[in-house]
Amino acid sequence: MNDQQKQLIFEQAKQWILEAGERIRAKMHEPFVIETKSTPDDLVTEIDQNTEQFFAKKIRETYPDHRVLGEEGFGDELADLNGTVWIVDPIDGTMNFVHQKQNFAISVGIYSDGIGEIGFIYDVMGDVLYQSKRGEGAYKNDQKLSPLSSDVVLERSIVGLNAFWATENPRVDKNGMQELIRKVRGTRSYGSAALEFAYVVEGNMDAYVTMRLAPWDVAAGIVLLNEVGGITTKADGTEVNMLTTNSIIASNPAIHREIIDKHIELKK
Ligand code: IPD
Ligand code: CA
Ligand code: CA
Ligand code: CA
Repeated sequence: MNDQQKQLIFEQAKQWILEAGERIRAKMHEPFVIETKSTPDDLVTEIDQNTEQFFAKKIRETYPDHRVLGEEGFGDELADLNGTVWIVDPIDGTMNFVHQKQNFAISVGIYSDGIGEIGFIYDVMGDVLYQSKRGEGAYKNDQKLSPLSSDVVLERSIVGLNAFWATENPRVDKNGMQELIRKVRGTRSYGSAALEFAYVVEGNMDAYVTMRLAPWDVAAGIVLLNEVGGITTKADGTEVNMLTTNSIIASNPAIHREIIDKHIELKK
């Protein structure tokens, strides 16, 4: 996509995201259907589904040659990232949406031949839109965000981390995680991967560490984080694959390597 196409797609996506947020806020106080998916704690509501359908329909009507990768199954089956792909999480933080009615986001990343060109994370209840185009910086609403500080050390960092990864679990050694927790200034767990990315982007947190996320959880966040000089890799330091699930270390570059080398021991 050229710069002009990118600008038009950016404006269009933004308009749909704000409209989708408006619809969610309007519907969320009426009764809605809640179902479970893979486990009793894996929730999906009809509002997640309706929101993804809203995006899929708009994208297909407006850009018939674009493809959609979405959590709730209304997108396309993708075997590659050729062309323009919209990677959509209609509600990231469904558990928060159901239980707390806050701390959830719409996440939309737009990739062109595998390169993240546009990233939006919309905190629906806070009405805060994190937005970025590759090479043009990251914005929180209309405020341009500063590059991440190079003056960060792990001992004075705040790290986003779900306590689950510090308990016995199949993916990572809990002792390394517990040492990380003891070393840092503090940990936080917001329950929305997209918002945790956004907080690293704006420098409220210095890293976000998690062992399993889907492409729609991270697609927008990676684009945004790049724009402030942050790094996202898998937990072994290798590149994230946007067609599979990944472990994720998204952080200020000053502490990225230390987290991986000293605190992450992946189980085979
Ligand atoms: C979930 C949230 C959560 C993360 C989970 C995700 P969902 O997304 O981002 O913070 O820990 O791994 O699946 O299902 O609410 O869109
Ligand atoms: Ca989900
Ligand atoms: Ca998600
Ligand atoms: Ca979701």
